[in-house]
Amino acid sequence: MDFSTLIVYHSYYRWIVLSAMLLQIGWIFIEHKRKSIFTIYHFRILLLFTLIFNIQLLIGWLLFTQSTIAHGFWENISQNIKNRQMRFFGLEHVSMMSLGIILSNIYTILAYRKRNQKEVFTYLWKRYLIIYLIILSSIPWSFSPLTSRPNFR
Ligand code: HEM
Repeated sequence: MDFSTLIVYHSYYRWIVLSAMLLQIGWIFIEHKRKSIFTIYHFRILLLFTLIFNIQLLIGWLLFTQSTIAHGFWENISQNIKNRQMRFFGLEHVSMMSLGIILSNIYTILAYRKRNQKEVFTYLWKRYLIIYLIILSSIPWSFSPLTSRPNFR
């Protein structure tokens, strides 16, 4: 798949990721307030959200292999580190997004090990807030004065 197709998928899929994050944060918060026991049924829901994030991780890395900006960055790091766009897409965006999604996978596995226990939603609530912050701060928002990209391609 070429760059122009992948960037459109990656850009639109961002809205699916953001909607999933909004639903997930509400769900975790409600279950945390209810002090619910974390069951296998809850684990399946958590896994579904992580699957949605993993699809963006996959599209992102496919896009990385085709991106001139991201590749260009790695060809002359000492020079390109001073270029905001190149540093963002070649280093910051890819590392922070990958970190956020890998953490989501790790906490999903750890939550599975804690099934049938109380306090798991409190555990998830604290950790997912950090993941959301990592992801939200690494999106090239259209309103960002630093690195912006259109909301819709
Ligand atoms: C939650 C995860 C992610 C979100 C919400 C997200 C969002 C975005 C958005 C909105 C853009 C701009 C698209 C446009 O120009 O229309 C973008 C570009 C890009 N993203 Fe992501 N991204 C995510 C994860 C990743 C990951 C894991 C990688 C892995 C390498 C990645 C690699 C890239 C690359 C290479 C570009 C394009 C750079 C260019 O213009 O050449 N993204 N991303």
